[in-house]
Amino acid sequence: MKLLKQGAEAKLFISEYLGKKCMVKVREHKSYREKSLDERILKGRMRSEAALLSRAKKAGIRTPVIQKIDTGNFSITCEFIEGKTLREELQEGSRNAKARCKSLGALVAKLHSNGIIHGDLTTSNIIVHRGRLVCLDFGLGDFSAKPEDKAVDLLCLKKMFLSTHFAFLECWKDVEQGYCRNYAGGKRVIGQMAAVESRARYY
Ligand SMILES: Nc1ncnc2c1ncn2[C@@H]1O[C@H](COP(=O)(O)OP(=O)(O)O)[C@@H](O)[C@H]1O
Ligand SMILES: [Mg+2]
Repeated sequence: MKLLKQGAEAKLFISEYLGKKCMVKVREHKSYREKSLDERILKGRMRSEAALLSRAKKAGIRTPVIQKIDTGNFSITCEFIEGKTLREELQEGSRNAKARCKSLGALVAKLHSNGIIHGDLTTSNIIVHRGRLVCLDFGLGDFSAKPEDKAVDLLCLKKMFLSTHFAFLECWKDVEQGYCRNYAGGKRVIGQMAAVESRARYY
């Protein structure tokens, strides 16, 4: 297996599964956590990541297909998605930025209208594969119907977006537009987002 990335929570390896390129995500122990607690946390994250990935796929959101779950070494094997991350694409100065941002909003709309909170919405967790967006990394996600949880999820993306993609600041509006057009509860979540933001300012 070839190490692709050492993340904060996991190591990512490129390998092969049934003759096809795949991605193996191995969660790592944290030495500062007591061992049995650590194992419970890692198993819980892995299970919820797998559950969220397959729920999202059922809802018609593009996600990598899970091929294997190994609770022994805390790893998930899934198909390798070719393409650049949306972050890379925007940073290279994409001519499609506006359309991409609308699709990004539509993707989050689909997640939220199906009660899925991603938990780590960033443009690094989206791969542009043959012109379409594929959503990755549900390790910090959860299921929730609450507008507040959806607002916090979207706010995470907004903060990341505005700090990383300052060349495309005006495109945040396109994200919100894509979101509201594809989710009947979208306007309420955007309103809630403003409430969360103004609360955060006083902490
Ligand atoms: N199935 C996949 N196919 C292709 N690249 C992937 C896949 N999963 C992850 N990656 C790449 O590895 C990076 C980190 O993976 P991710 O699941 O987001 O882990 P982390 O928890 O470390 O953020 C992603 O930003 C992406 O570039
Ligand atoms: Mg990630």
